[in-house]
Amino acid sequence: MAAAAVLTFAPSAHAADTLGGSAAQSGRYFGAAVAEQHLGEAGYESTLNREFSSVVAENSMKWDATEPAPNQFNFSAGDRLVAYAQQRGKTVRGHTLVWHAQQPGWVQGLTGDALRQAMRNHITKVAGHYAGKIDSWDVVNEAFEWDGSRRQSNLQRQLGDGWIEDAFRTAKAADPKAKLCYNDYGTDGINAKSDAIYRMVRDFKARGVPIDCVGFQSHLDYNSNLSTYRQNLQRFADLGVHVQITELDVGGWGNDQTNVYRQVTQACLAVSRCNGITVWGVTDKYSWRSDVTPLLFDGNYQKKQAYGGVLAALNGA
Ligand code: XIL
Repeated sequence: MAAAAVLTFAPSAHAADTLGGSAAQSGRYFGAAVAEQHLGEAGYESTLNREFSSVVAENSMKWDATEPAPNQFNFSAGDRLVAYAQQRGKTVRGHTLVWHAQQPGWVQGLTGDALRQAMRNHITKVAGHYAGKIDSWDVVNEAFEWDGSRRQSNLQRQLGDGWIEDAFRTAKAADPKAKLCYNDYGTDGINAKSDAIYRMVRDFKARGVPIDCVGFQSHLDYNSNLSTYRQNLQRFADLGVHVQITELDVGGWGNDQTNVYRQVTQACLAVSRCNGITVWGVTDKYSWRSDVTPLLFDGNYQKKQAYGGVLAALNGA
């Protein structure tokens, strides 16, 4: 047909030249974890603003930061990041409502029903405060061990298996619009830990527990084995949840680092319900793993080889 033939002469889509712009071509976001104290630094801000379409607070929305004393909330740093993002058209991931780490001291001393009420109140107040402003919340972070058993955190020991679904139900009531995620590391393929999380998500979907997404932190290294990475994302997606790469960083340098970044990017692009990638920082110099230079920009905000690999992958090369 003539009309169809015309299409073959249409110019191909122009490859975008930023991470966020390139990811947007397929309806995805490309985000970075932000530590608000660096926002005044010119290179930090210009890189963040140019390249990233989504942000997540590296620390300032965690329990110790938001509720330092019982029922006394401090949203100042998180609010600053949300306002910053909204003014620049960036979406925000929320990280994280319930986690065994970075709890304030007063939570660690609670037992039984007092801990349950504290957890519910924390979720209600924090998710409620940010309701309507968060694209996806990491409701529960890192609740499983490598062998697939539940991590023996204070939450698990005090509240038993039901605490995770309790957290999701409470978050749903506080912010009905955000996507609610379970987030973990060491889930970079099909293994005992990802199997256990898979069974939990399948069970939640079967019983109507509100879960919308699974976050794969993806703290990786140049020699990480990613042979079942995409397949693992796909099996979760097939349960009807979104999947997101939430804390990507890759220790190493040069070709090996670039290849791992490229594989992760291509895996997400290959899974239609993988709707975004977040790297865990803007620049190597402020990375929590700065000793292994795991990010896409060096300490002078220069694009690394891995940046080129990710950009090319996002542009379908
Ligand atoms: C890390 C931050 O990057 C550090 O600044 C902080 O000292 C400790 O936490 N998994 C997570 C993140 O879910 O919250 C962690 O972030 C990295 C591991």
